[in-house]
Amino acid sequence: MLIASNRGPIQFDIGTDGELEEARGGGGLVTALTGALSATEGLWVAAAMTEGDRMAAARAPGGRIEVADEDTKYHVRYLSLAEESYDRYYNVVSNRILWFAHHYLFDAPRSPRFGAAAQEAWRHYVAVNRAFAEALAEEHPPGQGGSGAGPVYLVQDYHLSLVPAMLRRLRPEALTAHFSHTPFAGPDYFRVLPDHMADAVLRGLLGADVLGFQSQDWAENFLLCCRHVEGARVNLRARRVEIDGRPVLIRVFPIAIDAPAIRRTAATPPVRRLRREISRWKGNARMILRVDRTDLSKNILRGFLAYETFLREHPSWQGRVKFLALLNPSRRAIPEYRAYTRECLRAAERINAELGSADWRPIDVAVGDDYERAVAAYSLYDALMVNPVFDGMNLVAMEGPTVNRTGGTLILSRNAGAHRLLGKHALTVNPFDVGETAEAIRAALEMPKQDRRALHLGLRRAVAANPPARWVNRQLGQLERAFAARH
Ligand code: ADP
Ligand code: F6P
Repeated sequence: MLIASNRGPIQFDIGTDGELEEARGGGGLVTALTGALSATEGLWVAAAMTEGDRMAAARAPGGRIEVADEDTKYHVRYLSLAEESYDRYYNVVSNRILWFAHHYLFDAPRSPRFGAAAQEAWRHYVAVNRAFAEALAEEHPPGQGGSGAGPVYLVQDYHLSLVPAMLRRLRPEALTAHFSHTPFAGPDYFRVLPDHMADAVLRGLLGADVLGFQSQDWAENFLLCCRHVEGARVNLRARRVEIDGRPVLIRVFPIAIDAPAIRRTAATPPVRRLRREISRWKGNARMILRVDRTDLSKNILRGFLAYETFLREHPSWQGRVKFLALLNPSRRAIPEYRAYTRECLRAAERINAELGSADWRPIDVAVGDDYERAVAAYSLYDALMVNPVFDGMNLVAMEGPTVNRTGGTLILSRNAGAHRLLGKHALTVNPFDVGETAEAIRAALEMPKQDRRALHLGLRRAVAANPPARWVNRQLGQLERAFAARH
């Protein structure tokens, strides 16, 4: 089994002593795939994103880095791509165009403005997708794989949407699944993209045998988008597209977290030390928590404004509640991300200045890459705010309840994929409705203890019912069906 994703499971940085330092790759894709891989061995092909990644790849025997712990063993191969090409593929097409489209983030009166720069960036996106496809194809030379069965490729996310069709040309006998960790834009919004891009993305994905999505909503959007692909026959009910005389199955495989693994992390000495630190900071106040990459889709700003509204409308809560925001810096090369992070920090400062006092700071924001602190904070929150504008799934919404010890409540956006799984045990909000979110904060904090406990138990059960191995096994099961249909 070969996995391909832009970001790999480990990030290497070069320390001040010139030695390599290893850190866990950020984001939900890495969390989900690492959990899923504990069920199976394989090779994971990813892009070298740092100088350290490039150095680690050069030092590893055959360019393969072994990753092994108690229950997981696999290898990672980092592709070293030309810097300019990688920048246009990652920062421009993937994260400024496709990510914005799938999360409805464009500022329609002003952006996007597609022109020569986007055109040039697209060329690099195609080239990087080709480099991935060629690397995957050469990993499994024809004839390998026992009984004539070809390789099985699991391709991840919008960065690599052209890879399935490229693999089909390079390795027609292979079985390929592509999984989207993001939402998929509805057909009107998707067509903001230049026609050739939209068409290439859809045809690229349709090169796979199976296309996986986090939720029914995103799968349906994809199917609706495919109605614009010439020659494609879309069957919405059967969730199938016929193209070039072959079927493509469109399926929903919600990703999951490895609950025992995060509980083990929560019990380690560094996390316990951080928990004591956060507990002292919390004191006798109630605690609202959010944990996010500094991404525009996460809706951090409206979250702070909702908290401000709540404090102004319910002044009796002033001094009795604290908001902890743990923000993991993300995609700092992109101007919109830097501006958004600044805007969020300024809003928190303003709220603190206007409402805080000498002995009460309403919001504490920590910007940094600190997974252990996030896990420590999960134990202690009274309300966890997960209010993304749109989100493929959102794993924070699953991790929090798994380690929380205070019977905390989840405030959850109806536009997160996780809402399908967890919505009935959460306080649902329309992420654009600041007033409604403020009201959800009040409801979360004032809810009777036994109601909170019932919701909390419901969340834990729903998370436990979806173990990560299922995510990968169900995809392999659908690929087997595709294999059987071919022979
Ligand atoms: P996304 O994939 O958009 O980042 P998710 O909520 O699905 O959003 O996943 C975020 C993942 O990143 C979670 O598993 C979370 O625990 C993890 N995480 C949170 N903070 C950090 C951090 N500082 N460093 C690395 N990972 C983090
Ligand atoms: O989960 C969606 C996703 O875009 C992943 O593909 C990605 O690894 C993660 O979010 C974090 O983003 P990035 O890799 O750009 O830091």
